[in-house]
Amino acid sequence: MTKPQQRRFNRPFLKWAGNKYRVLKQILPQLPPGECLIEPFAGSCAVFLNTDYPRYLISDINPDLIRLYQILKQEGEPFIRYARKLFTSHNNSEERYYRLRGRFNDSSDEVEKAALFLYLNRHGYNGLCRYNNAHQFNVPFGRYRRPYFPQREMRQFHHKAQLAQFLCQDFTTTISQAPAGSVIYADPPYVPLNTTASFTSYSSGGFTSGQQKRLAEIAEQAAQRGIPVLISNHDTPFVREIYRSATLTKFKVRRSISCNGQQRNDAAELLGLFTPD
Ligand SMILES: C[S@@+](CC[C@H](N)C(=O)[O-])C[C@H]1O[C@@H](n2cnc3c(N)ncnc32)[C@H](O)[C@@H]1O
Repeated sequence: MTKPQQRRFNRPFLKWAGNKYRVLKQILPQLPPGECLIEPFAGSCAVFLNTDYPRYLISDINPDLIRLYQILKQEGEPFIRYARKLFTSHNNSEERYYRLRGRFNDSSDEVEKAALFLYLNRHGYNGLCRYNNAHQFNVPFGRYRRPYFPQREMRQFHHKAQLAQFLCQDFTTTISQAPAGSVIYADPPYVPLNTTASFTSYSSGGFTSGQQKRLAEIAEQAAQRGIPVLISNHDTPFVREIYRSATLTKFKVRRSISCNGQQRNDAAELLGLFTPD
């Protein structure tokens, strides 16, 4: 018997917490067709890279991320060559990492900052993206033997990016301004597991329960305007309550729950599809 052909997905060029690369199989079949796919929580753009819409609007609240996408879209190969120069064995040491992290935090040169953001993503601890209160990037050195330079993935991104507009803005702006004919895939920072239906006060990665509710409300409003919205989140009573007008699909995801990745367990996730009545 021949094995069924496995579809190979395009990998994002950035490491990103909560990236959807490993659950594309569950997400993609749920996305309705449309003229433009809007992703208000872009992250590493795993869904953008693996769909085939005529146009895209990609946005995120993180200005460093969106700047990198805009520059890679515009410049392509010269930027890839420039960024590659940072990936040397000389730069893969604690001392050089902290020096380059400082340079990133002080630089006002947009192209240098974009290349350094990629360097920090691949050399920093776990590919995390974290800032202190003064908005200084503060992730420690990652100690990787030989950080990968994602040349092939960046070329692919540059090519696909010609169909996209990249904007740095809050999800409320992106969703409320969505034009007719769009489809929205929203992947917010998740609510913590074990949340009850009535919990109100929490903020995870700066994203509050109030924002989770606001997202569900404006998804409902967009659906009433004829724009379908698909949202990912953890399967908790709180999420089921705020997504009650959506069609829900549940699936299990393998999760690493320890820093060294040796301890794993399954977490249940939901996809909520908000469609017109
Ligand atoms: C779970 S990640 C998205 C992951 C993405 N789907 C992927 O495949 O990599 C959530 C994203 O939401 C962004 N974000 C957090 N708060 C936001 C807000 N208020 N408006 C827009 N984006 C926000 C974060 O910067 C982060 O990139």
